[in-house]
Amino acid sequence: MYNRIKLRVCVCVCVCEASNLCQPSLPSYWPNGNPLRYLPSELLPKTTHTYDTHQKRCSGCKVPVFNRFKLNYISLSKVPDLLSSTMWCGRVALRVALQRIAVVPLNSLSITGGLPGAVQREMSSLPRVYITRQIPPEGLKILSESGQVQFDLWDSDDVPVPRKELLQKVKGVDALVCVLTEKIDAELLDAAGPNLKVLSTMSVGFDHLSLEELKKRGIRVGYTPDVLTDSVAELTVALLLTTSRRLIEATHEAKTGGWGTWRTLWLCGYELANSTVGILGLGRIGVAIAERLKPFKVKKFIYTDVAPRPELASLIDAEYVSMDELASQSDFLTVCCALTPETKDICNKDLFSKMKNTSIFINTSRGGVVDQEDLYEALSSGQIAGAGLDVTVPEPLPTSHPLFTLNNCVILPHIASASYSTRNAMSALAANNLLLGLKGQPMIKELKL
Ligand code: DGY
Repeated sequence: MYNRIKLRVCVCVCVCEASNLCQPSLPSYWPNGNPLRYLPSELLPKTTHTYDTHQKRCSGCKVPVFNRFKLNYISLSKVPDLLSSTMWCGRVALRVALQRIAVVPLNSLSITGGLPGAVQREMSSLPRVYITRQIPPEGLKILSESGQVQFDLWDSDDVPVPRKELLQKVKGVDALVCVLTEKIDAELLDAAGPNLKVLSTMSVGFDHLSLEELKKRGIRVGYTPDVLTDSVAELTVALLLTTSRRLIEATHEAKTGGWGTWRTLWLCGYELANSTVGILGLGRIGVAIAERLKPFKVKKFIYTDVAPRPELASLIDAEYVSMDELASQSDFLTVCCALTPETKDICNKDLFSKMKNTSIFINTSRGGVVDQEDLYEALSSGQIAGAGLDVTVPEPLPTSHPLFTLNNCVILPHIASASYSTRNAMSALAANNLLLGLKGQPMIKELKL
């Protein structure tokens, strides 16, 4: 669409003037050194606007930018290059550029220029989309190149959109892309109003969505399973080994002078060879974890779920057992179930009390499935040997939380799907789900409501 009507994207590349100064404070934007290296040469600064240090924004176009950045114009045709070129260093730029795609006319080099009436009419007929976070570039590229939507996004990666702002921004939108930090409930759906037809969450989990409210309003919901299975399974194995072989304690000892002579039982842990691994909630991710653990010579896989899942179980030769058997037989118990009203706090005193005191508990699903007080009790009393958690309640878990005081508890900040390729794949899938939903076609991954 924007190519056809020859819009020109004006605002855009934020080029760091003092990369050595910015780099330490913006590591995620400049992952591998000097950001200038990553920009196509035609995008290097030919400054037209300058940074207004007082207002903290570009003095010409009034776009807020980070400190020590210049703004530069690029033509619309360069946007796809920029999007696909290298990386994350363009992120700051992209979020600005893409917001402007729908509003800047070809002949205007100033983003303050007005739109010709015809262009305005054409643009305003496109479905409006709000994106609640800076999603990775793949998804933004798909949306912008589709020419099917106009979109606005919350201009940050590290701060979630404030609820008040979100309720404002969703007013009248046709579709919404969200991440798992946004609660999509009756209040939000009411604020959005009747235009909202499609919700696309960039997550496999959907406990942040009120499915009932969505169903009531006939809103279709896309989500992002499968594309993150490998990444989550890989991280789960890493967390399991880190916990069972006490790697955090070990590096701490090595770094802080605790490493004396070689000792016979110092920092001993538990090994996977000959063990029984239990899976609570057998789905794609559980299977992928088991496939990765098998070469470690695991003796037996067992699982429990609301009912046997013979097709999946046969892939890993896993035996269906009761919850009690899962607890008492597992040397490693890994939680892979979704958070639902039925699974909330399902890992509690009752479960922990049936586990072996040599067993390791791992959770990469949702914090809400674990009663954290009961877990603390089980870990601190030696009822179980260790726990590895990628998810907690709340997130972030306050640094003063008692679980952080325990050597036998490894806590990660919800990073199971955090690989560049997976997050981009999730972003792309979320974008494609949304576009298909808006066209009234089946989404690639759609929740059955
Ligand atoms: C999800 O997608 O639900 C994960 O928890 C984060 O990737």
